Amino acid sequence: MSITTELQQTINDMVDGARGILAIDESSPTIAKRFAAINVESTQENRCHYRSLLLSTPDLGRYISGVILFEETLGQKSSDGTPLAELAWQQGIVPGIKVDKGKGPLPGAPGDSITYGLDGLAERLEGYKAQGARFAKWREVYAITDANPSHLGLHANAEMLARYAAVCQGTGIVPIVEPEVLMDGSHDIDRCAEVTENVLHSVFHALHKHHVSLELMILKPNMIVPGIDLRTADPEEVAGETLKVLRRTVPAAVPSINFLSGGQDPEEATQNLNAINQPGDDAPWQLSISYGRALQHPALFAWQGKAENDAATQQALLNRARLNSLARQGRYESE
Ligand code: 13P
Repeated sequence: MSITTELQQTINDMVDGARGILAIDESSPTIAKRFAAINVESTQENRCHYRSLLLSTPDLGRYISGVILFEETLGQKSSDGTPLAELAWQQGIVPGIKVDKGKGPLPGAPGDSITYGLDGLAERLEGYKAQGARFAKWREVYAITDANPSHLGLHANAEMLARYAAVCQGTGIVPIVEPEVLMDGSHDIDRCAEVTENVLHSVFHALHKHHVSLELMILKPNMIVPGIDLRTADPEEVAGETLKVLRRTVPAAVPSINFLSGGQDPEEATQNLNAINQPGDDAPWQLSISYGRALQHPALFAWQGKAENDAATQQALLNRARLNSLARQGRYESE
């Protein structure tokens, strides 16, 4: 199979009119924080149990078409010895992996950050592929202040995303390109729109320069929302601003835009997605999810680290996945 055919097959398996992507790729410090909220210790066994529980949720494949795993998870097996990547694929959920190695300050650009992990990426991807991964995710993070992101921040982060995406496509791995403009702060929705427009413009300019096939990638952006300290926008405003910015910046060749939830609560993230998918908008891309917290939060709190809650955990995940599938088709009605 040619690399292009392989990439197209993965896109076909991940992108359809009803499903979305589940992100369970929290790094070790982040999952420890999530577990601490329910008083569960972040041991290797607990992480494996929780994540295999999520992936073995009956019928999850009706609503979820892809799952982003952390490197450790890709090497783990469920209690009956099935590799977790295989567990996902058994119900038609394509396994993928987060490949960036986290972020740090960008020298020369105070307040901006940059993500690490390009060195040796092609070799790492070959290894992940042998373990079943068919797509990858890389996240660049942009904080909003009066001065950030700077020109250098925009340029450097876009270059990283484009170089990562080009390496992925060269090895037959579909890249999810994630430029995340953070919700932190008290900026208004217009400022989020302005920054996100600049970010996406710089990212697609870099993707073009690096010869990335837009047809064979997925974009994972933030929605356009006010800073978390303000939080005044209703779903119609979020949808209007988000679609406006995407139309200005994202070429129609991109098959799917899968939003991150970024700190929105689960209900809010579903309502916003539903507003984005109302009929009449005739957007050129699929508009779906790649939620982490907004899909997992109810499941995590149902679980509480107790085996007797396993069924309730899966039920909570399935419920959120189903509601987002409805929202993704513009058919969600608030509970
Ligand atoms: P959230 O939906 O919790 O923002 O997570 C998505 C993700 O993968 C962030 O990189």
